[in-house]
Amino acid sequence: MKYLKYAFVGLALCLSAQACRGGNDGPRRPKARYALAGPLVPAATTMVTAWDIPDNPLNDSTLGNSPLSEQVRWGYRIFVDTPRQAARFTHSRMSCNNCHLNAGQRERSLPVVGVAGLFPEYNARAGRLISLADRIVDCFIRSENGTGSLEDSDDPSAVENVRDLLPSPTSKEVLAVAAYLAWLSKGYPVGQNPAWRGRNAIPADRLIPVDKLDGHKGEGLFTEKCTSCHGADGQGVQIGDKKAGPLWGPDSWNDGAGAARVYTLAGIIRYAMPYLDPGSLTDDEAQHIAAFITSKPRGRYPFKEKDYASASIPVDAVYYKAQR
Ligand code: HEC
Ligand code: HEC
Repeated sequence: MKYLKYAFVGLALCLSAQACRGGNDGPRRPKARYALAGPLVPAATTMVTAWDIPDNPLNDSTLGNSPLSEQVRWGYRIFVDTPRQAARFTHSRMSCNNCHLNAGQRERSLPVVGVAGLFPEYNARAGRLISLADRIVDCFIRSENGTGSLEDSDDPSAVENVRDLLPSPTSKEVLAVAAYLAWLSKGYPVGQNPAWRGRNAIPADRLIPVDKLDGHKGEGLFTEKCTSCHGADGQGVQIGDKKAGPLWGPDSWNDGAGAARVYTLAGIIRYAMPYLDPGSLTDDEAQHIAAFITSKPRGRYPFKEKDYASASIPVDAVYYKAQR
C-alpha cells in the first residue's frame, strides 16, 4: 500500500508540474523521457506514462486544416473520450482508450498503430471479410455497448427499427475514427502484421480449461491488486483526470465483446495491468481474475445468435454458452 501511495504522489507531481513531459524534437513526436518501443509506449512503463501519446494529431503542426485532417483530429478525440464525443453510439462509460491504452499507442495493450493496412481481414465471428470500418463498428456496438438501448426490448420489430440507430461503416463517427487509425498507419506496409500486433494473448500451452478456473481466487486477487483504482464495485476510481472504465454492470462492455471472453480479457490483464506494475501477474492469476470479471452481469448483446454462424463458439466465450 505504501508503494501505491508514493506512486500516486509521483503521478500528482507529474500532472501538476508538467515536469515529466519532454520537449519537442519534431513535428509529430515529442521527445520521450524513455526509449519508445518502436512507435509505442513500452509495456514495462507504469501509469506514469498513461498520459503520453507518441503521435498526437492535436499537436502535429504539419497536419494542416484539410477536411481529412479535421476528421483525423476528431477521430482521435472520439478514441480518448468516446462517451462524450460519440455519445449517440456509446451506451457504456467506456472510452476506446480504456482498453487500447495511450490512444492505441501502447505496447501489449491492444495497440492499433500500423493495423489499418491489414483490412479487409477474415473474421471468424462474422464468418466473412471485415473492413477497418466494420471492425470499428464492432467495437462500438460491443465494447461501447452501442446496442444498450435495445437491451431490455423483447419485441423483435423494435430491435429491427432501433438497429437503424446503430453505427454503420458510413457513420461519421466511425469514419473519423478510421481516419485517425489510417493516419496512425501511414508509412507501414499493407498486408503485413506489425511485430506488436496480437501480443495480448496468453500462450496456448498456458491456458487453463475454463471450467477449472477459480473465480473466488480471482476475486481475492482482484481485491488485493485492483480495487485501489477499479473500486470494489469494479466501476472505476477517479485518478487525476483518469478513470478506468467499468469492468462489469450496465455501464461496461456488453457480453458480445471480445473482452467478455475469458482468455481475451486475461490477455489484456496479463500484460497491461496492474497499471503500477504491468506484467507482474502470472498467466494463471490473470486467467482467474478474468474468470471472476466475466462471471459478473453486463449488458446483453442482442445479436449473439448471428455470431460464429459458420464456426464453433470459442470455449472462452462464456456468455454465448449460457445462451445456446
Ligand atoms: C473493453 C475493451 C475495448 C474497448 C473499450 C474497445 N476495444 Fe477495440 N478491441 C478490443 C479487443 C479485446 C480487441 C481484439 C480483438 C478481439 O479479440 O475481439 C479489439 C480490437 C480492435 C481493433 C482491431 C485491432 C487489430 O489489430 O486488428 C480495432 C481497430 C479496435 N479495436 C478499435 C476500437 C475502437 C475504435 C474503440 C472505441 C470505439 C474500441 N476499439 C474500444 C477491446 C476493446
Ligand atoms: C494504479 C491504478 C490501477 C490498478 C492498480 C489497476 N488498474 Fe486497470 N486500469 C487503470 C486505468 C486508469 C485504466 C484505464 C486506462 C486508461 O484509460 O488509460 C485501466 C484499465 C483496465 C482495463 C481495461 C478496461 C477498463 O474497464 O478500463 C482492465 C480490464 C483492467 N484495467 C483490469 C485491471 C485488473 C484486473 C487489475 C488488477 C490486477 C488492474 N486493472 C489494476 C488503472 C489501474
